[in-house]
Amino acid sequence: KLIVLDFGSQYNQLITRRIREFGVYSELLPHTTTAEELKDMNVKGIIFSGGPMSVYDENAFSIDPEIFDLGIPILGICYGMQLMTYMLGGEVSPSKNREYGKAEISVQDRTAALFTTLEEEENVWMSHGDYVTKSPEGFTVTASNDHCPISAIQNLDKNFHAVQFHPEVRHTENGNEILRNFAFGVCECSGNWTMQNFIDMEVDKIRELVGDRKVLLGLSGGVDSSVVGVLLNKAIGDQLTCIFVDHGLLRKDEGDQVMASLEGKFGLNVIRVDAKDRFLSKLNGVSDPEQKRKIIGNEFVYVFNDEAAKLDGIDFLAQGTLYTDVIESGTATAQTIKSHHNVGGLPDDMTFELIEPLNTLFKDEVRELGLELNMPESLVWRQPFPGPGLGIRVIGEITEEKLEIVRESDAILREEIKKAGLDRDIWQYFTVLPGFKSVGVMGDGRTYDYTIGIRAVTSIDGMTADFARIPWDVLQKISVRIVNEVKHVNRIVYDVTSKPPSTVEWE
Ligand code: XMP
Repeated sequence: KLIVLDFGSQYNQLITRRIREFGVYSELLPHTTTAEELKDMNVKGIIFSGGPMSVYDENAFSIDPEIFDLGIPILGICYGMQLMTYMLGGEVSPSKNREYGKAEISVQDRTAALFTTLEEEENVWMSHGDYVTKSPEGFTVTASNDHCPISAIQNLDKNFHAVQFHPEVRHTENGNEILRNFAFGVCECSGNWTMQNFIDMEVDKIRELVGDRKVLLGLSGGVDSSVVGVLLNKAIGDQLTCIFVDHGLLRKDEGDQVMASLEGKFGLNVIRVDAKDRFLSKLNGVSDPEQKRKIIGNEFVYVFNDEAAKLDGIDFLAQGTLYTDVIESGTATAQTIKSHHNVGGLPDDMTFELIEPLNTLFKDEVRELGLELNMPESLVWRQPFPGPGLGIRVIGEITEEKLEIVRESDAILREEIKKAGLDRDIWQYFTVLPGFKSVGVMGDGRTYDYTIGIRAVTSIDGMTADFARIPWDVLQKISVRIVNEVKHVNRIVYDVTSKPPSTVEWE
């Protein structure tokens, strides 16, 4: 595998990501990782990431100098290049102008290990204040430009390589080539890493960490926690207990489907807590959206705690934290924590170790992992669903009748979207109940009933969104079915606003 040592660049996740795409396993570790630790990891190459500091800063991140003596190839990127230079006796200076953005470099040595497949002039992405002004002894300059005469260096004897620019950023047009040349040419990786290898590796890791102790997992029914559940179950079977809090605000049949799949198909140990009454009584009479969110969030923690307190001898708490959620650079796989920092309020005397097996993966990798674990596509490709569930899709005060209307209309919408083959193209699609009534006519009679709003958006990350262009005939089918099949609905409207200025959810 290739290890990326983390010096805090905003791009460092991208490095491991790109390398894994080549079929080479790569992992981000803190820059404090020692040579001794690396020795035991079967490491084929080490990459020093970029970072915001200057090597001359008082508390500048550094590394164990013995890493240079391991005989393992090293690639320094940006700060990584400067650190390598500084530690091996070269010179780093502040540049007159901070260079930021697209730049062109000339490759001086096209036989250089990183550049064998590159052209003479290359477009790259630069982002630095300092630069190397004298390379360390034994190094030659392999690329340069006007701003930065030493843009890349190498020392073939030691197999050390470095670039001032960022090969992991897409703006570096042949950045992938450079990383490939390092992975395959320099480090001689085989490139046969797959998700299956990841599963085997994680299973071993989890078994070793947990031993014969017990793990608790909170299942939400979403992709991440479900994948963690199936993976842990594969590793430690009955030593895993899951708590699935059903707050009564799930979509139609959702709770049963989660149970059928995770408990039924995969044999997980799931405690399903039917807490509908608890949630609904707390929500009774509340109409402010933020108030509703708070009540649902808090109640969730209380219910989880009540159930967890009934269990004996739990040592670990598992979570579906993703790579993107790991803000602190270089989190260890397991960390002793006061669990209430994570679950939001477990009793103080309960402390768990934390297991986060997905914390090196991106969302799409988690989906791939789920499929590799034979999880059903319906679970792996579930659309995002907010924690407060249907509670924020009944606008204003929540009643059982209104929940039922949203749940039933939503089920029809989902069925028809799927039938039309649109389910993968639309980011989220659901119905909302605004709560007012209007006049209609059905048969010979006047009706005075609720309106249902259809919300469907396309998006990359939920931060911005555009309303989905569902074909009219599909909308018509949905409209007819909802009015005919769901009691107390006599009008359907389609939300044609984007985010901004609207939000995805109506509350
Ligand atoms: P908005 O409505 O803010 O939604 O445009 C953006 C994304 O976040 C989801 N969402 C929530 N998720 N708890 C959650 O876990 C919430 O309170 C919440 N509110 C919105 C929403 O479904 C969309 O994917």
